Amino acid sequence: MASEWGPLEGLIGEWESDKGGLDTAFSHAEGKVLGTPYNEKVTFKPFGPVDNGDQHLFGLDYKTAMWRNDEENPFHTEVGYWLYDGATGEVLRGFVVPRGITVLAGGKASADATEFTLRAEKGAPLYTIGENSYLEKNASTLSYEVTITIGDGTWSYKEDTVLKMKEFNEPFHHTDGNTLSKAK
Ligand code: HEM
Repeated sequence: MASEWGPLEGLIGEWESDKGGLDTAFSHAEGKVLGTPYNEKVTFKPFGPVDNGDQHLFGLDYKTAMWRNDEENPFHTEVGYWLYDGATGEVLRGFVVPRGITVLAGGKASADATEFTLRAEKGAPLYTIGENSYLEKNASTLSYEVTITIGDGTWSYKEDTVLKMKEFNEPFHHTDGNTLSKAK
């Protein structure tokens, strides 16, 4: 099913999961690494083209939020854009985590791909990460990698955010994954 949105076509719409998500992070409240199940709601709205000279991008306006249990406020949110360049097969995911982090992750995928991986690395010239001065000192994001798998009426992601945290000598793998089902 090739379209101008390429592999992003299958993500258009509204999605949710019921406790299918799993986050692994260091909890400051508990002073240890916790595995936390979560619910999630994701929205992707298509737009395009966006023209940069000869480049024609088609994108998805992206929002996600995750909740533990029945709490009112999400414990993690992201807003941003996912973009596809049909001429080169470049896929981009640019988003903000409201801890004061921006990520522009990129990779390549064919128009009909049902699985693709995007990466960003702190300090890299191309696909990179920006963060605030507190995080740079205490919990710096060294790299981000996500693999997206698109199925029939579902899609999944697995992501690995590598942090240099003051609590650990070795880089810490802050991981997340979920499978979303079509809500609308
Ligand atoms: C599904 C996605 C994610 C969820 C559910 C999530 C959730 C969490 C949780 C629960 C914490 C621990 C906070 C605490 O107790 O102190 C945390 C910490 C953190 N997360 Fe995430 N996170 C996600 C994705 C990301 C991504 C994509 C990034 C960056 C690219 C990121 C960067 C961080 C950083 C830097 C911290 C450490 C803050 C600190 O130690 O002071 N997270 N996250």
